[in-house]
Amino acid sequence: MDSTPATDPDLLDKVINLAKRRGFIFQSAEIYGGFRSTYDYGPLGVNMLRNVKAAWWRAMVQMRQDVVGLDAAILGPPAVWAASGHLETFTDPLVDCRKCKERWREDKIDGVCPNCGATEFTEARAFNLMFKTQAGPVEGEGATAYLRPETAQGMFTNFNNVLSTIRKKPPFGIAQIGKSFRNEITPQNFVFRTREFEQMELEFFVPPAEAEQWYRYWIDQRYRWYLDLGIPADQLRLHEHAAADLSHYSRGTTDVEFAYPWGWDELEGIANRGDYDLTQHSNASGTKLEYFDQAANERYTPYVIEPAAGATRAMMAFLLAAYREDEVEGETRTVLRLDWRLAPYQVAVLPLSKKPELEGVSQQVLSLLQPHFACDYDVTQSIGRRYRRQDEVGTPFCITIDFDSLEDAAVTVRDRDSTAQERVAIDDLLAHLRARTNQS
Ligand code: GAP
Repeated sequence: MDSTPATDPDLLDKVINLAKRRGFIFQSAEIYGGFRSTYDYGPLGVNMLRNVKAAWWRAMVQMRQDVVGLDAAILGPPAVWAASGHLETFTDPLVDCRKCKERWREDKIDGVCPNCGATEFTEARAFNLMFKTQAGPVEGEGATAYLRPETAQGMFTNFNNVLSTIRKKPPFGIAQIGKSFRNEITPQNFVFRTREFEQMELEFFVPPAEAEQWYRYWIDQRYRWYLDLGIPADQLRLHEHAAADLSHYSRGTTDVEFAYPWGWDELEGIANRGDYDLTQHSNASGTKLEYFDQAANERYTPYVIEPAAGATRAMMAFLLAAYREDEVEGETRTVLRLDWRLAPYQVAVLPLSKKPELEGVSQQVLSLLQPHFACDYDVTQSIGRRYRRQDEVGTPFCITIDFDSLEDAAVTVRDRDSTAQERVAIDDLLAHLRARTNQS
């Protein structure tokens, strides 16, 4: 038996269950009955989410000389959101069911109330998705602030600050990872659409004549990023939006889509935002957001190519794509075939027995590996059960220390996917694991 994500109708429930049972993702405020559509990331989940973000940062910032990072504020004044167009147009069509009075996002319900089955609704009205709050102790118009619904605007409003403090010229980008907030009418499907989530966005500023070429470039790069981190090609596709479906700022948008259990849906969007944002903020603030090209003696407003991904949504896709049930020695096991870079623990150090003789050498192995890999150390239960527990959370390597280790100064390295075991000298262990994870 080998259930693949495409064929298992219970996949979503199984992953949600595993996520809770093994400490990846918990319902927020659960002891108070839960707070709908918000989630907390547990000990394993926080490791994995950090790994997703680290993999993105490495590919988008660390490995490039044409992208720099930023960490902008979450709270912002209305002026930013007026200029960006969000106050006016960042809305979804809201309808009320005339029978049960539940509220729904009109474009998500196909004319039938998911709660009671009725088909009569109120007229749709535009519902703004931004969370509004008060900044400071004095209430009133001047104190209004918004939680950002995307990280992007911080990159635009800091365009001059970044340009004047680093020696870059278009094409160059500003990258940011951080929380965003949207008062979604119908949050759904676990962490796929939530009201509080994390984004990973790049705003890549280019000469207008190069915009189309860079748009295509980033679509390709972003598609490959998911492939490289283990999502199979047959679960990924690109979907180019029709002109009529484009957001208010976009001259072209292509989504990277993933085959979720409910069908193809968005994982990430890559947009050509043209000069919309820099022009809007220039006009509204009175500060020109432009680039002066000295060689050409020309001032221009760069176009923006924006790959915008969700960290929490990507983590969910990686979990779904990695989940397998297979058979090992006549027993069904659950295994997360996560890329080692994403796994919450990369190595588990497992002394065969709790006997004190093994403790010294086991701690020595842990000290050797811990600075280089995220390690778990587990002495409870039988070794078979401990292997299963590590398989289920995606740990690529289990290191077993047995009584022979005291004699031969070697340990057994077990591979998660093949379950193959190999004896490796402790002196060679770090180099062995580095080689197997393509790190020299
Ligand atoms: N700056 C452009 C922008 O924010 P978006 O398509 O609205 O574009 C980008 O969002 C990505 O952020 C989405 O592809 C998705 O991965 C993630 N995302 C958006 N809304 C989300 C939500 N409510 N819950 C979880 N992730 C979300």
